[in-house]
Parts: sequence; structure tokens; C-alpha cells
Amino acid sequence: MTLANALPKPIRFIKGGVLHTLHNVPPDRTLLEVLREDLHHTGTKEGCGEGDCGACTVVIGDVQGGKLHSRAVNSCIKLAHSVDGMALWTVEDLGTPDGRLHPAQEALVQCHGSQCGFCTPGFVMSMAALCEQAGATPITRERAQQALSGNLCRCTGYRPILDAACRMQSLPPAPLDSPVLRKQLKALAHSASVDAGSTPCAHPAYLAPTTLPELLALRLSHPEAQIVAGCTDVGLWVTKQHRQFARVLDTTRVTELRQVDRYPHHIAIGAAVSLHHAFAALVKDRPQLQSFADRFAGLPVRNAGTLGGNVANGSPIGDSMPLLIALGSNIVLASTRGYREMPLETLYTGYRQTCMAADEVLATIKVPRPQRGERARVYKISKRTEDDISAVCLAIQLHIQRGVVTRASLGAGGVAATPARARATEAALRGQPWNEATVRAAMATLRAEFSPISDMRASGDYRRQVLGNLLWRFWLESQGQVATDIHQLDLELPA
Ligand SMILES: Cc1cc2nc3c(=O)[nH]c(=O)nc-3n(C[C@H](O)[C@H](O)[C@H](O)COP(=O)(O)OP(=O)(O)OC[C@H]3O[C@@H](n4cnc5c(N)ncnc54)[C@H](O)[C@@H]3O)c2cc1C
Ligand code: FES
Ligand code: FES
Repeated sequence: MTLANALPKPIRFIKGGVLHTLHNVPPDRTLLEVLREDLHHTGTKEGCGEGDCGACTVVIGDVQGGKLHSRAVNSCIKLAHSVDGMALWTVEDLGTPDGRLHPAQEALVQCHGSQCGFCTPGFVMSMAALCEQAGATPITRERAQQALSGNLCRCTGYRPILDAACRMQSLPPAPLDSPVLRKQLKALAHSASVDAGSTPCAHPAYLAPTTLPELLALRLSHPEAQIVAGCTDVGLWVTKQHRQFARVLDTTRVTELRQVDRYPHHIAIGAAVSLHHAFAALVKDRPQLQSFADRFAGLPVRNAGTLGGNVANGSPIGDSMPLLIALGSNIVLASTRGYREMPLETLYTGYRQTCMAADEVLATIKVPRPQRGERARVYKISKRTEDDISAVCLAIQLHIQRGVVTRASLGAGGVAATPARARATEAALRGQPWNEATVRAAMATLRAEFSPISDMRASGDYRRQVLGNLLWRFWLESQGQVATDIHQLDLELPA
């Protein structure tokens, strides 16, 4: 390969209605660096550089199924090449040429939703995405809260900001979508396919295949390339650990990996399906999972991050894996040699280690559909309600027939070097009457089954204690007791 074809391809995107073409952008350069340092569009701010604060939020959009799909993402942990061919909006692009503010901006002014203003561009972008997606459907406070779950403000307080989000729709609209924009995106897609056809042998530094066979061939020929999906884990290796990647293999444009297929016995979720869409598919079958889904990171991370990235990353505190294990999910690994399917828990061989071969990728996660008599719950214990990773996570799926546990499946996170299946506890439950004595015995088994470590999130003792308590909570809920929601309490301060 010559040096010339190892260079990244140019990045092209429509920003504020204008086509931008950027040459020689390194494959691991972030979108925020490109915006602030290369384009000098400094309206987008950098706070944490790790997807936590939302100061860097931008809106991206592409055409999916004939519709513009726009969503808020964190530019600090998004690779610049990933927006090639897309529409992009930052806070500079929202006002109209005649000086009118976007409803998100105007509402923040009217509701006094900004003080120092550092967080404001990020809030404006999350609100603009919400406004676009809501269309004519009313924006409730709850929906506003979810849309702003990835944005932190240190000084104003959230009430005026939420007021503003709910007020946006009463102001003159300023849609991001337009026929002109769609035409521009179509022209961009067309010129990209012409370019691809004219340089069939090029192996640029940022590889973004669009089909599974192409992805697998590139995986085989470039085992050194860093696989990246939503980049919400990998992005932090770049910004915090200063790791550099000479070549990146992006999975998010592979059609086969972006699909959710429903079969009578299982749902097949492609590895590159966003967390937002993957959880929507899971919640459709099991509505009780909604509150858990809402607690996975914040919305911009769920918009960018993928279910496959969570599973492949193999963090012992990854949230989806305990749930997927408890539901009896299988994963499918793919390579040019073919496919192999296995129970999810057997993917992990050690701390952040998997049995995936150098030429393999994670292709699909297969989640069994609920069966009659299933009781499934998942509990996440973290220091913050939203935008925080678990200290402990426990997912439980039981089948109880005539008062006896016939099937038990438990997945646990934060208590071992890998996401794990609580096999001893499952054995302690199976075949036993579903009563307090069984649950007490199973709690003791569960606490003894793992040796969690102490770290900044929680001590080992706390984790062990809480693990048993979560099983107790499941028991209480099965008896009709509902946990108190602190947000629903009418708290009165003493005079
Ligand atoms: C602010 C913030 C909050 C977060 N909160 C949570 C949380 O509440 N719960 C939680 O579990 N996680 C959380 N995370 C972590 C992260 O968002 C998730 O792990 C996410 O699912 C990763 O997906 P991704 O697509 O971004 O993966 P990436 O970062 O793109 O990749 C992660 C790893 O998976 C590999 N990979 C990705 N796709 C494939 C594939 N198809 N085949 C083989 N390997 C692949 C990559 O090579 C890399 O090693 C949070 C992250 C941030 C920044
Ligand atoms: S700078 Fe904090 S989320 Fe990006
Ligand atoms: S206005 Fe200062 S951080 Fe939000």
C-alpha cells in the first residue's frame, strides 16, 4: 500500500446549510477538535471531554427511511470522520439570517435559563433536537428531563431550563429539516458513491464499510485497526488516555449491523444499533425495562453508543450484559470464516477480555422473547440516577408455576471481573417453593457467590450486601409491594 492511499479520505458534511470539505483529518481526531481548532467555530464548549457534562453537544442528522433522523450527541468523544456525509448543527447554526433566535434559544432567554452561560450551547442543542423530534407532539416535563439527561448546569438550576424546554413549542418554529437540506444530503451521498467507485483499492486510515462482507474483509486485512462503533468508550481512550489510532474501522454504516429483526422466539439486534433503539426494541417486549433504559448514561450517549459496543467492551460494570444474560441472550460472532453463536456470558474470558478472534466482529445479539409466566426485573445501583455507571446491577428472570420456581436466570454486574451469571443462586432457587425462606437462602448464596472488589464506586462489602438486598426487593415486588419513588414524595421541611 502506498502512503497516499493510507491517508484518510476527506470528510464532507453540511453544517448550517453549507458544505464543508476537510482534508487530511487524522482518523482519531474528535469532532470537537475539528469544530473548535480547525473550523474555529468555538460556540461549542469543552467541559469534561468525556461525555459527562453535555457542554459539547451538537446535533447530527442523516436520512433514514426517507426521513431526516436528527439526534443530539457529544462532540468531544465523537470521531470527526463519523459525521462524513451527514448534516451537522452547532449553536452557531440555529438562528435565522434575519437575526431571529431558534425557539430553544428564545425560550431560554424568556425563562432566564442561563447564568454563566458555559453549559448553555449544549442545552440549546439538546433542546433543538428535542424540538425537532417532538414536532407537534407536546413536550412534557418528563420528556424534557429525558432529553436533557446528558446536560449538566452548575449555576442556573434546572427548573428554568426545563420550563424553557416546555415553552419552546409555543414560539415560532424553526425546523432544522428542509427539502433543500435533503437535496444536499442526497447529492453528498451520490458523490461519495462515485468516489468510492473510482478508488476501489484505496485503504484509507478511516474505514467505514457499508456491508457485512466488506467489514469482515477489512477486519481480516487490517487486524491492527481499532474497531469503533458509537465511540462512547473508545472516545475516552483518545481524550483521557491520549491513545492514538493510525487506522480506525467504523461499524456504524454496516446495513446488516443496524437492523432489529423480530422473530417468534427472539429479537435479533444488530451490534451497531444505537442503545436508544436497542432499548426501545427490548422495552417493546418488556415494558418494565423502560426505567432501567432511561438510566443508561444520558440521551446523547444512548444516541451515539451501541448495544454491540457495550457487549464487546466487556466492562464488568456494563449495564446491558446482566440483563441480557438473565434473559438468556446469545451473541453471534462473524468473520470471513463464517459465524459462531454462543451464550453471551461465555464471550468473556477475563477482565475486559473476550474469546473474539482477531478476525471476528460481534454481529448480532439475540434476545429471547418473553414467555408466559416470566417475571423479569433489572436493578441498577449507582450514585446518580442518570448519566452514571452502576456500582452493582442485578437482573433476575424467574418462571414460577403453582408456587414453585421452575426456571431461574440471574445476571450480575459490578461484582466480578466480568459480567457474570449467578449460577449457584439459580440452583438455589430452581425447584424451590417461591416463599420467604427460599429467598432468604438464595440471598445468602448470592452474597457468597461473588467476591466484589472495593473501588471509588463502592466497597466490596456494600456490593455484596446490596446484591442480596436486590433479590429481596424482587421478592417484595412479587408480593405486590412497590418501592417508594423519592421523586413522588411530598416532602415537607420542618418549620
Ligand atoms: C457519560 C457516559 C456515561 C455512560 N454510562 C454508561 C452506563 O450507564 N452504563 C453502561 O453500561 N455504560 C455506560 N457508558 C459506556 C458506553 O456508553 C457503553 O459501553 C456503550 O454501549 C459503548 O458503545 P459504543 O458503540 O460507543 O462502543 P465503542 O466505544 O465504539 O466501542 C467499545 C468497544 O467495543 C468494541 N466494539 C464495538 N463494536 C464492535 C463490534 N461490532 N465487534 C467487535 N468489537 C466491537 C470496540 O472495539 C471497543 O473495544 C457510558 C459512557 C459515557 C461516556
Ligand atoms: S465536554 Fe463534557 S460531554 Fe463533551
Ligand atoms: S449557566 Fe453556568 S453552568 Fe449552566
